[in-house]
Amino acid sequence: MKQIKTFPSNFLWGGAISANQAEGAWNQSGKGPSVADVMMCKNNLDIANYTDETSIEDIQHHLKNTNDKLFPKRIGIDFYHRYQEDIRLLAEMNINTFRLSISWARLFPRGDEEKPNQAGLDFYRDIFMECQKYGIEPLVTLSHYEMPLYLVEAFGGWQDRKVMDYFVHYCQVVFEEFHELVHYWIPFNEIDSVLRHPFVSAGLTADAKDKRTMYQAMHYQYVASAKVVELCHRIDKTAQIGCMLTGIMAYPYTCRPEDNDKAQQMRHYMYLSGDVQIKGHYPKAVEAMLKETLQLDFTEEDKQVLATNHCDFLAFSYYMSITQGIEKDQPTAAGNTISGIKNPYLESTDWGWQVDPLGLRMICQDLYNRFEVPLFIVENGLGAKDVVTSDGQILDDYRIDYHRKHLKELTHVINQDHIAVMGYLTWGIIDIVSSSSAEMEKRYGFIYVDLDNQGTGTLKRIPKKSFYWYQEVINSQGANL
Ligand code: BG6
Repeated sequence: MKQIKTFPSNFLWGGAISANQAEGAWNQSGKGPSVADVMMCKNNLDIANYTDETSIEDIQHHLKNTNDKLFPKRIGIDFYHRYQEDIRLLAEMNINTFRLSISWARLFPRGDEEKPNQAGLDFYRDIFMECQKYGIEPLVTLSHYEMPLYLVEAFGGWQDRKVMDYFVHYCQVVFEEFHELVHYWIPFNEIDSVLRHPFVSAGLTADAKDKRTMYQAMHYQYVASAKVVELCHRIDKTAQIGCMLTGIMAYPYTCRPEDNDKAQQMRHYMYLSGDVQIKGHYPKAVEAMLKETLQLDFTEEDKQVLATNHCDFLAFSYYMSITQGIEKDQPTAAGNTISGIKNPYLESTDWGWQVDPLGLRMICQDLYNRFEVPLFIVENGLGAKDVVTSDGQILDDYRIDYHRKHLKELTHVINQDHIAVMGYLTWGIIDIVSSSSAEMEKRYGFIYVDLDNQGTGTLKRIPKKSFYWYQEVINSQGANL
């Protein structure tokens, strides 16, 4: 019987991680500290301050704390020393694309140096060569929640225009060094998140969280991104560079116009990165707010840079949908650094994120109709508590079910909606430290890592049931979901 191919033959199948959640080795081989390295595990936390309440005093206090186990991102999953084993396992699943990020502070320990740290360059070259060995294409994010801490202390993070030049210089070094090994790039992970977690996303400390400063930091990131797009296209005409946004589908709680208005505003906010990075300009109302109400430093040259350097594709994360309404006393649902009214029609994960595969189809339609460039799902996954059976297995049928349902919707997106989708990458394809709460026990992977929230464990890797399921999905080009 002829097999039905549900995904195009050039589809990019794979998984994703970020440096700050996986590498560890936070102070080895010349790496400088980053914002991620002062983030405690939420469960171990006995202080009021958390991610977005970090003050300069907290940073200095945390840096003196040498108990790395309290700061899981300092240890990660020790990808720094185990990347060969990890990439071999990924290759065994037959993935052809691996999204990872470069740690800015590993190449430029303070962030403002002229010359890069050679040990850092060597490390990433080895990784890319390892990927090449297995025919895996790296998709590289240049800034995924880990700016060098020195830039926070000296310049207040992304609120200072100078940081833009340091970032562009870092990217130039990376492109010149690796353009033969890497063909897909993303300058920033989720610039929209500056408004939701300003410290990890833009290095804004607790005293710099006012609306004007947050939008200023966002604006500088957008302009920096456009400059990096120009650089990338200049250095390698064949490279593709995309923007990346937090894909959260927003529904009105009722058909009341006010609820719909709230949902609509939420969608406009979610899609803003596409407006600026794909279309090349802010919506008129947003530009007026930035210039007239907030009086941002927003020059004519910035406007020109944004207008002339568009991204080639639109990448996004998708985990859940959110429900918006004006009702005050409704139960709320948690989510990817954003919450809303609980949707009675959806089930939630252990962490309260609302699972909504159909929402993926709708957000693809929204984004494609609005931007008309290829879409790339670069994060999708289920954070869950896994249990290892007495004979050493992880039977994660719940995770398989989650991915299966989302991939089924994606077949409709591709075949019925005729939307160009470049690929599908599962988030945390190997267990890594959670971004928002720095927990190890919120697991997304198809590969289990023996490590707990207290930093205890052998770091042994074990393929889960989902590993073999994904392998079969890829081998059958999606026919055997
Ligand atoms: C995404 C981030 O938005 O959400 C990732 O890009 C993050 O870095 C992911 O890990 C899931 O969030 P969390 O907090 O469950 O790790």
